[in-house]
Amino acid sequence: MHPRPAILSLGAKLLLTGTLLAACGDSSPAIAHSTTPAGGPRDAAQLFEGACASCHGPTGEGGLSGVSLREATAAERQLIFDAIRHGVGAMPASSDDMSDEEIDALVEYVVGLR
Ligand code: HEC
Repeated sequence: MHPRPAILSLGAKLLLTGTLLAACGDSSPAIAHSTTPAGGPRDAAQLFEGACASCHGPTGEGGLSGVSLREATAAERQLIFDAIRHGVGAMPASSDDMSDEEIDALVEYVVGLR
């Protein structure tokens, strides 16, 4: 008759987990309820204000570190998307920060700036 290592280690894991949960609950119960970001996409105007306006100006007129976005045309949507997602020249990519859905909304916003 041999011992069952798998069951022994499962027991050890349960014990460890119980200890960690207990420690966590005692020290900082608030962490369990900390807010996660809301699921929905953010508002395009807010995204622009937060991520683009510092270089392209609040209405995309350019003149700061970024070029004017007023000349963007509907046919250039893919170009605008790529610029936001991958960056272009001195412009940093925003892909870490925005979902495709949010970038799409932002592209429409940029096209609407004209
Ligand atoms: C750090 C400053 C900076 C920020 C922030 C920035 N841009 Fe730019 N953007 C630039 C510069 C500089 C260029 C010109 C790049 C080049 O052609 O070398 C540019 C170019 C562009 C272009 C034109 C690309 C092309 O190939 O003609 C678009 C569209 C654009 N930006 C949109 C945005 C949007 C939308 C945001 C917000 C997500 C944004 N930019 C944030 C600096 C910035």
